[in-house]
Amino acid sequence: MKGVVLAGGTGSRLEHLTRVVNKHLLPVGRYPMVYHPLMRLKQAGITQVAVVTSPEHMGPFVTLLGSGRRLGLDLTFRVQEEPGGIAQALGLCEGFVGDNLSVVILGDNILDQGIDDQIAAFRGQERGARLLLKKVRKPRHYGVPRFEDGQIVEVLEKPANPPSPYAVTGIYFYDREVFSYIRGLTPSKRQELEVSDLNTMYVRRSLLTYGILTGKWGDAGTIKGLQRANRMVRHVKFSELHPQTAK
Ligand code: G1P
Repeated sequence: MKGVVLAGGTGSRLEHLTRVVNKHLLPVGRYPMVYHPLMRLKQAGITQVAVVTSPEHMGPFVTLLGSGRRLGLDLTFRVQEEPGGIAQALGLCEGFVGDNLSVVILGDNILDQGIDDQIAAFRGQERGARLLLKKVRKPRHYGVPRFEDGQIVEVLEKPANPPSPYAVTGIYFYDREVFSYIRGLTPSKRQELEVSDLNTMYVRRSLLTYGILTGKWGDAGTIKGLQRANRMVRHVKFSELHPQTAK
């Protein structure tokens, strides 16, 4: 299984903080934000990871992460030339992922524990995709699943009237078909290839499963979310996972 960490976007909801620094390089706990998804992949034994970001931010990512060796990772970098959405960014990784399964993590998604069990669950699934859900107080800020008889029948992006109390977290598992589905997507009103539309394509083929995250989860893409994420992982240390990781 290969990992993909998406670290593009303008970070516009973080106002002044992202005028110079990319959102995913801001501090969260003891590390730059992007270490968190990277080290959760590493913890689950996924060391081949592609990092996608925009041309103007690629330099600092390479300076910070290098080849990945210091973190026990084997990194590949992909440039997203225009903000075309999460599904478009994943599409850039087709050659890297090849015929493997992939786990995609949005670079601002912060967890207080590993996702090894969820990754194992997906390995046991022959085909399709898997989402990780988390019950939240304000689902309208996220992708939200609609259920019928315990199955997801639709994924709505930031709906005004959420059909369930769950957020679709930015941790997605896909089989190798994902790239042909991405080619079939059309841009949304905001001119992006939406990950929720991609997931809905799996729903239509009855190939979408889900797991519910039991640990804490946060999206650090807003001021409140960033502050909450900092509190959540203030004690998290990755040095046990890789001795050379910054203490
Ligand atoms: C993105 C996705 C959304 C998902 C969220 C999780 O939204 O579009 O479906 O629930 O990440 O972090 P964003 O935070 O980029 O607006």
